[in-house]
Amino acid sequence: MEKSSEISGFYRRAPGERLKLVTDFAGLTEEEAELLRKTGALNIDQANRMVENVIGTMELPLGVATNFMVNGKDYLVPMATEEPSVIAAASNAAKMARPKGGFHVESTLPIMIGQIQLTDVEDPLAAKEKIIGEMRNILVRANEQDPVLTKLGGGAVGLDVRVVDSTVGPMVIIHLLIDVRDAMGANVINTMCEAVAPIVEELTGGKTFLKIVSNLAVHRLVRAKAVFSKEVLGGDEVVAGIIKAYAFAAADPFRGVTHNKGIMNGVIAVALATANDTRALEAGAHAYAAMDGSYRPLSSWERTGDGDLVGSIEIPMAVGVIGGATAVHPVAKISRKILGMPSARELGEIMAAVGLANNLAAMRALATEGIQSGHLKLHAKNIAATAGATEELIDKVAARLIAEKKIRIDRAKEILDELTSKK
Ligand code: MEV
Repeated sequence: MEKSSEISGFYRRAPGERLKLVTDFAGLTEEEAELLRKTGALNIDQANRMVENVIGTMELPLGVATNFMVNGKDYLVPMATEEPSVIAAASNAAKMARPKGGFHVESTLPIMIGQIQLTDVEDPLAAKEKIIGEMRNILVRANEQDPVLTKLGGGAVGLDVRVVDSTVGPMVIIHLLIDVRDAMGANVINTMCEAVAPIVEELTGGKTFLKIVSNLAVHRLVRAKAVFSKEVLGGDEVVAGIIKAYAFAAADPFRGVTHNKGIMNGVIAVALATANDTRALEAGAHAYAAMDGSYRPLSSWERTGDGDLVGSIEIPMAVGVIGGATAVHPVAKISRKILGMPSARELGEIMAAVGLANNLAAMRALATEGIQSGHLKLHAKNIAATAGATEELIDKVAARLIAEKKIRIDRAKEILDELTSKK
């Protein structure tokens, strides 16, 4: 039987119970479950091999979003984030998407861009022609750098050449197009760019300068779409409110960027859980949002003929499931197992669905009760804990803070004194 990610009351359970459910869903081993239970899953030796000057590790909560159905398949989605409400919001929106079939996603091949900057050429247009004429040899040299990638069906597949005007004069910018398969790709791209640079110099008599991946991954795109019925959303007015909220984001970059931040809440939480490069994703997404010259929302929302709401997103998704930290971080490996060992493309597709889910949840909250009531519940718990409430008193203190609408540490301390002196 197909496993369902719709697990009722998941959020009400204790962390250990949730882990048991996830263990059963994903077939985690006892060692993997134990690694998640304890803190310090990334040990100091592993950390010391990842980056420089290590003195410790920095933990974040790892949660699981429920209810995700993507192209008809159920997923529990691991999300690492410091922000309250993000995982709950994704789960809620994914639940609301299910009656209309969940998320439908598609993606391009995982083709990334490596840039080579060529300077000091007398005739940039002639240089461009020469480089294009030598494309085959350049691609062969590039592919010699990674025979495994070519064996897997990837590798350098094309070239684009542009002449770009700059403050220091015209320069020839070569884009090496590389199918990186299941990697994020930065390493192989940089290696290939460096390897082909001497050919380019010899051909043109110019000097190559920078050789580096571009994080604007316009050829590595994911599209996700979902329909939310007006009944599930709360009626016509809610749909109308969300469409107004979207129109605001589309008309005003000050709002558009926050709209997109809500999308990235989901995308980045999955990226972190799988140890992907979050900065590459952020940079790429925001640049893509500004591709037509003004900053735009990455998603769009409209009413269907039946009065339901349909949302779609198109976003570059440079993520990998092999290499770099994804291969080293023990929790990232478990996160991938929870997702059913997806390919990089499938992972990117899931992430776009999560981004769309978080976007919908944020807009629905903003268009109805506002964002604060959801946020405040966890915030109140944090304030209660900071005021010194023990595990069994946190909920009580938080409930009083919310009821009194005074979510402040001084009030939490007073309530705590009251409760403990009564004992
Ligand atoms: C907060 O992390 C994200 C939101 O600001 C997104 C949005 O405004 O759409 C709530």
